[in-house]
Amino acid sequence: MFYHTRFSLKSKANYVFTLLVFVIFSQGLQAQTITSPDKNLSLTFEVNQQGIPVYQLQYKGKSVIKPSKLGLEIKDQPSFMEGFKVDKTEEKTVDTNWEPLMGEEKTIRNHYTELKVALMQPKNNNRQLIIRFRLFNDGLGFRYEFPKQPNLNYFIIKEEHTEFQLTGNHKIFWIPGDYDTNEYAYTTSKIGELPELMEEATAYITAQHPIENLAVQTPSMMKTDDGLYINIHEAALINYPAMSLNVDAETFKMSSHLTPDAVGNKGYMQTDTQTPWRTIVVSDKATEILASKLILNLNEPTKYKDVSWIKPVKYIGVWWEYFVAGKSTWAYGTETNVKLDQDFSKFTPNGKHGATNERVSSYIDFASKHGFDAVLVEGWNIGWEDWIGNWKENVFDFVTPYPDFDVDAMRDYAATKGVQLMMHHETSASASNYERRLDRAFQFMKDNNYSAVKTGYVGQIIPRGEHHDGQSMVNHYIHVAERAADYQIMINSHEAVRPTGLHRTYPNWIAQESARGTEFETMGGLDPDHTTILPFTRLMGGPMDYTPGIFQTDLTYYNTGGNQRVNTTLVKQLAYYVTMYSPLQMAADIPDNYERFPDAFQFIKDVAVDWDASYIQEAEPGDYITIARKAKGKNEWYVGGITDENSRTATIDFSYLPKGKKYIATIYADAKNASWNKNPQAYTVRKAIVTSKSKLNQYIAPGGGFAISIKEGNTSEMKALRKL
Ligand code: NOJ
Ligand code: CA
Repeated sequence: MFYHTRFSLKSKANYVFTLLVFVIFSQGLQAQTITSPDKNLSLTFEVNQQGIPVYQLQYKGKSVIKPSKLGLEIKDQPSFMEGFKVDKTEEKTVDTNWEPLMGEEKTIRNHYTELKVALMQPKNNNRQLIIRFRLFNDGLGFRYEFPKQPNLNYFIIKEEHTEFQLTGNHKIFWIPGDYDTNEYAYTTSKIGELPELMEEATAYITAQHPIENLAVQTPSMMKTDDGLYINIHEAALINYPAMSLNVDAETFKMSSHLTPDAVGNKGYMQTDTQTPWRTIVVSDKATEILASKLILNLNEPTKYKDVSWIKPVKYIGVWWEYFVAGKSTWAYGTETNVKLDQDFSKFTPNGKHGATNERVSSYIDFASKHGFDAVLVEGWNIGWEDWIGNWKENVFDFVTPYPDFDVDAMRDYAATKGVQLMMHHETSASASNYERRLDRAFQFMKDNNYSAVKTGYVGQIIPRGEHHDGQSMVNHYIHVAERAADYQIMINSHEAVRPTGLHRTYPNWIAQESARGTEFETMGGLDPDHTTILPFTRLMGGPMDYTPGIFQTDLTYYNTGGNQRVNTTLVKQLAYYVTMYSPLQMAADIPDNYERFPDAFQFIKDVAVDWDASYIQEAEPGDYITIARKAKGKNEWYVGGITDENSRTATIDFSYLPKGKKYIATIYADAKNASWNKNPQAYTVRKAIVTSKSKLNQYIAPGGGFAISIKEGNTSEMKALRKL
């Protein structure tokens, strides 16, 4: 017995050894590990016995992603899933700095360890695939590359099978996987609860196309039971469909799910080419997730030679009044069956058209008086009577104004007031129509001094059968940005695919909506925790045109009939200018409401939209965020803090201020008796002296926030004030 045991142990060891040698030599199997520059993260890659590429990720010795397979299924050709051997690996470290044109930081450090693995499929004509990993201190990026090679030129991706094997039943902040819309409300749950919650989470939205199996969209924000924050998304989505994540709610495995095209294919590829980066941002501090620049670092620098015309924009618009019932309309006429070649001047005016000369002039006056850069005018062009619901191709021509909007007169008036008009191109998701008219539309803008356009893609896409997030539309949005650059025009897209850091490469694609924004406050409301989640999800990919600044939060004020409200306090709306980063920010409320609260409005007038530095002071997804930022090129700082439906006390420190100097802080706070649903407009404004040593514990009401501006002051002003 004894002898037998020893013998079998030895033979087992021998067997394992032989197998190992066999595998190493026959398949080229080697596990290779790289670590992040700070050594906190480690990535291990290997090709397993079936020749399947497998990776795993650890953070401070804890598993983040357990061994997970990589690969792609190709149409009518052998897959890129197995039968690989490692041909060559290369490792390198990169450490550089770069300056974004606009951003949250003046300088961004791009510091990573790279592992490039060249794989080969001996049984498939030695087809080649490269997997490139970049391991940063704040996470991992990797992508598939398809080099030029003798036996592969064109191929169609049936599906990408990138796996993310999570380590447990994490908490997740999610919206349902959908090929056409990202305007869902967030649900917070355990991964294991997704099956029971999916139906409710997939409430009706225009043009929705939910994924049939269990899937969520990226950026997907998760938190493990032991306090690790994990964010999965993608970077540099170019010439490829957007990725959602299939979820296995029992094994906690996620896997890539690409958006199909009209005939069910996923990606049309021609070597040499590559997929977008798959990104996993990891930290044990939620603040570091918000501070991560990994996605930007994985995008290419801009190829535009002259970027001097791309500038931050603070704007107002003939806009919110379309959403608060009974005010005004995009449409001019009462007609309902409309064609572009009709004579709109013969239409019967509905009496509520918003974009009239008179109304627009008053917005221009307001913008000029209060220092805004631009006025957005929606509903200026013909076609709105009949723009939605009929899957109609030629809805708008983007150049013909309604009879009561005089393009020349408004252009000249805006110019005399030192204000820009912002163009609006609602495409009604008819991308084909927009592409055909694009050059004429941009030339028209150029001729009339418009330097920025808000685009929109409400409805089902034309070409019919395509999706907002498919490869063709991904190419469309980039095409629009590139053509716009030819005319020195900036783009703010609504209802486009979620951003992936492309504002580095195409900086005139200055912001996007691509999530549930303020407009939804008039369509059922946004949960008080919504904006504590967005920076951890949607904003990971880029700036959001959230359209904050609503002061009249009780919407029954407009005789809407229902019990509708904006689900925040007034001061929380101020905080958004700091917590929701964007170099393009709207003051979305109508001028009358700003006139009623001039002291609070002062913060919106003052706040910067472009920054030298950002200090993420406190954060917890779904609960609260406190951020301080230094205005670009100025000795001014702005602080914003928000909470969910629970009141809290924010802890604010000012240690980023230059040592030994005194500044005047103006603190906008919820009143003690304020709350989002009972007393949203109760606030206080106070001034005090702050230094780098100051500390402040600031009360925030339920559904509330606070905002602080910090500026230099003269001696007499300072003397009258107390220290914080
Ligand atoms: C949806 C956009 O998000 C909104 O801002 C716009 O006013 C409407 N579409 C009409 O274009
Ligand atoms: Ca929208």
